[in-house]
Amino acid sequence: MTVSSTPSIIAIDGPAASGKSTLGHRLALELDYLFFDTGTMYRVITLLAIEKGLDLHDEAAVTRLAQQTELDIRPATVNDGRTCDVLVEGRDVTWEIRRRKVDANVSMIAAYAGVREALKHQQHRIGMRGRVVMVGRDIGTVILPEADLKIYLDASAEERARRRSAEIKARNGQANYDEILEKVIERDLIDSTREVAPLKRAEDAVVINTDQQSADEVFEQILNLCK
Ligand code: DC
Repeated sequence: MTVSSTPSIIAIDGPAASGKSTLGHRLALELDYLFFDTGTMYRVITLLAIEKGLDLHDEAAVTRLAQQTELDIRPATVNDGRTCDVLVEGRDVTWEIRRRKVDANVSMIAAYAGVREALKHQQHRIGMRGRVVMVGRDIGTVILPEADLKIYLDASAEERARRRSAEIKARNGQANYDEILEKVIERDLIDSTREVAPLKRAEDAVVINTDQQSADEVFEQILNLCK
């Protein structure tokens, strides 16, 4: 691959469990780029708000928390399936932010305008450094409209719930498919109907539906787009 023709800023958006993180991380490794999963930021704020006992419906309090929180996302230092280390005030919260209680509340927190505003500049600044694969819901539309390559990964809710169940089981957790499907549909609805930066594809994004394709096939397709 010739480095000069490779897009420097790559944005991957799509609904929950569409494969963005797995594929984005693999792409970043292949290109030797930074992998930045922006969903982790909303998850950290949700985890801290729960731990601090904040009323999660109190937008002003949660926004203050987002403004005050110093979080750091770095390349993975532990080989336990993680795509990056997520640190807050020196504490490793990489797996804690994947807990069910965070899953259940993060869409509400991510819909708060003040929270998004607090995290937006940080995301934009990191993205604009280039040589980055940035993953989220609004990267191609709001955070980095100037991205060199925009991909929108999609899959049916049923397929995504199946993948999420398999992921949880692989980590030795207990997964209830019906419950996961219900949550996936609920989060899709909140993410795509919120007023600020809703989940939607950018007009210039390449849409890839992954329902009938293996992860390897989708990866090849993405790699071809980078050439
Ligand atoms: O991708 P994820 O499941 O880790 O995302 C967690 C939540 O954060 C999800 O409800 C969507 C939201 N999110 C967002 O609103 N904007 C982003 N750029 C990334 C995630």
